[in-house]
Amino acid sequence: MRINYESIVKDTDPILRNKSVPIDVPLSHKHTALAKRMLRYVKDSRDEEKAEKYQLRPAVGLAAPQVGEFVHIIMVMIDTEDDQPKSYLLANPKIIAHSVQQAALKGGEGCLSVEIVHEGFVKRSARITVKAYDILSQQEVLLKEHGYAAIVIQHEIDHLNGILFYDRIDANNPWAMSENMIVIE
Ligand code: NI
Repeated sequence: MRINYESIVKDTDPILRNKSVPIDVPLSHKHTALAKRMLRYVKDSRDEEKAEKYQLRPAVGLAAPQVGEFVHIIMVMIDTEDDQPKSYLLANPKIIAHSVQQAALKGGEGCLSVEIVHEGFVKRSARITVKAYDILSQQEVLLKEHGYAAIVIQHEIDHLNGILFYDRIDANNPWAMSENMIVIE
C-alpha cells in the first residue's frame, strides 16, 4: 500500500509518542517492504507530478512511527550541491558521538506529522557520528554528518523515541541563541 500524506500519523494521535524498537538485520521481508514504502514516499514526494497525483507533501525524511510502525527505520533524502541528493535508508540508527557545539535551522523545523507551525530554534548537535545498518547496501555503517544532514537525521531519530521537534523549542524564548550555536541557513 502506498503511503500518502493522509495516511501519515499526525501529532494529534498519541501513538506518535510511542517508543519504537530496534529490528533484526538483515531485514525481514516485512521490514524490507516497509523500508521500500518509506523510500518511495520520500522519493516521490520530491517529484512534482507524483506529489500531486498521490497527494504527497514534500519530505526530506520519514521515520517508521509516522506510518504507524514502531520500529527503528528512518529515511533521509536531502539536496546537495551535487546532482544526486544524499539519501540514507537506515535501520537501528544510533548516535554514538556528538559535538558539544549546537546548531539550529534558521527558520525552525517542520514535520509531516505536524500540521501547525511551531516557531523557534530547535537546538541540536552540530556534528554527529551515527552507527546504523544501511538497508540499501546491507551493511553496518558509521556516518559522520554536520550541517543540515545532521539536523535531519537527529529529527528522524527523535521520532523513534516519540520526540517531536517542538519539544526542543524553548517556549519562553523560542528564538534565543545559545552561546556558540551555529545557525544553518
Ligand atoms: Ni518529523
